[in-house]
Amino acid sequence: MTETSQTVSFTQMKDGTKAEYELLAELERPFHAMTGDRILQELERQGQFTLEGYRITRLTHGLQAATRAEQEGADIDWIVGALLHDIGDGLAPQNHDRMSAEIIRPFLRWEVSWVVEHHGIFQMLYYGHHYGWDKNARDEYRDHPCFESCAAFCERWDQSSFDPEYPTQSLAHFAPMVREVFARKAYDPEVIREGVVVGLPPLAG
Ligand SMILES: [Fe+2]
Ligand SMILES: [Fe+2]
Repeated sequence: MTETSQTVSFTQMKDGTKAEYELLAELERPFHAMTGDRILQELERQGQFTLEGYRITRLTHGLQAATRAEQEGADIDWIVGALLHDIGDGLAPQNHDRMSAEIIRPFLRWEVSWVVEHHGIFQMLYYGHHYGWDKNARDEYRDHPCFESCAAFCERWDQSSFDPEYPTQSLAHFAPMVREVFARKAYDPEVIREGVVVGLPPLAG
């Protein structure tokens, strides 16, 4: 926690002066700069409990998804997206896909954020029928430009990443990528590239 002797004097936001808001913006800068580190701390926390009933932790699931993405030659946005696709699960288990997407949205490509936001409904393909749900609920997005990317993300990196035997990379391996991504300028159009679909890398062989 950063200690500071400088504080504003107002007790209601509407009473703040321009100088006070400039001070707040200045004090907030180092906090923003530490976002990547807070993300890594949250991932570490997710390594402390197993994923209920599964054979691995939430952290290992994300690490395994990211390892598969890297192995297949995906770019840094896909790798970090795979690593963080379930990061919202701790606070928002009912809508973790959307929460995870909001965390990455300012810093990763539009396509990756869309895929993370919708992976929950696409994942139902693999288990929805066991609960009497529509396993093909993803079909409402059939005409969306990111449909194939999301389907492939779930098939290749998400539904497959619950294997305690898989040679999964460590969090330390991915930490520099997380720091790099969260050090980007937020909502930079050259990073976000709204509407551009790259797709997953083609599978070898
Ligand atoms: Fe998920
Ligand atoms: Fe997942």
